[in-house]
Amino acid sequence: MPNPESLDTMISLCRHRIEAALDQILPAAATPPETLHEAMRYSTLAGGKYVRPLLVYCAGQACDVPMARLDAAACAVELIHAYSLIHDDLPAMDDDALRRGRPTCHIAYGEAMAILAGDALQALAFHVLAHENDSLTPHQRLRMMDTLAYASGSLGMAGGQAIDMQSIGRTLDVDELENMHTRKTGALIQASILLGGLAADPVDEQVLQQLGGFGRCIGLAFQIRDDILDVESATETLGKPQGSDEDMNKPTYTSLLGLEGAHEKLREVHDKALHYLDGMGPKADYLRQVAEYIVGRKY
Ligand code: IPE
Ligand code: IPE
Ligand code: MG
Ligand code: MG
Ligand code: MG
Repeated sequence: MPNPESLDTMISLCRHRIEAALDQILPAAATPPETLHEAMRYSTLAGGKYVRPLLVYCAGQACDVPMARLDAAACAVELIHAYSLIHDDLPAMDDDALRRGRPTCHIAYGEAMAILAGDALQALAFHVLAHENDSLTPHQRLRMMDTLAYASGSLGMAGGQAIDMQSIGRTLDVDELENMHTRKTGALIQASILLGGLAADPVDEQVLQQLGGFGRCIGLAFQIRDDILDVESATETLGKPQGSDEDMNKPTYTSLLGLEGAHEKLREVHDKALHYLDGMGPKADYLRQVAEYIVGRKY
């Protein structure tokens, strides 16, 4: 592992690792059906921040797990994320045309291919975790799949997205908004951190609890920051349309609490997140640094 002083080093190390691993796992664009595979690669290897794989690796570091044992989990969470964004951008959902500075998947490949690319990426995520991997036991892989399935399903990300769609034009109270954000974005972020902990052998259940609490808070913080950036940032910086939430009349932290209120809430949730790592010592330094990166990110 690199020097814990430098998150930048860790970010670039993780980026290289995950891009190489995803490139291997995704079927080649020349494999039939070519358009589907092209669409899957287009939306996965698209210059995202790879925050979720980074969280897998940093949580793994906090549990003394070598990076090679974490690659499958890092790929799986990014594949679910890529699928969720393709579907999130569809006309039936947020109807956005720009993602990471490029046309969204349905603009580039049509709606049918975009829906199918999302479906196939989700299936691939579970295939990656299920696949024989010398470094993880079958029991570990099963627990990881269960954790990821729960976080992606109707009680996690897909459920949160359903609440999001049903909340258009409505005013939610703070608890309802927190519930929606915790599910639609927080669940997968929390799962990324848990997967890092689940790769340890043996798994330390108490540490897993701490990681779960940290992950819940930092997952919520991630979406509060996303809401703030939708107001404060610019399309060129974000690589996705600024003001999309307001255009769609979505309830967000900024629409409910105002910009200052959203910033205040972000600070509060960040502090709460860090408390969960108390007692974990310097091994959790990367996680502390990623938390800071998440609440301060510019895009
Ligand atoms: C955007 O996620 C969607 C949300 C859950 C808010 P990211 O900001 O992680 O997107 P990329 O992968 O870096 O583009
Ligand atoms: C996306 O939330 C959450 C998921 C994709 C699950 P947003 O709709 O706010 O994400 P962006 O702003 O389009 O990236
Ligand atoms: Mg959305
Ligand atoms: Mg969106
Ligand atoms: Mg957003």
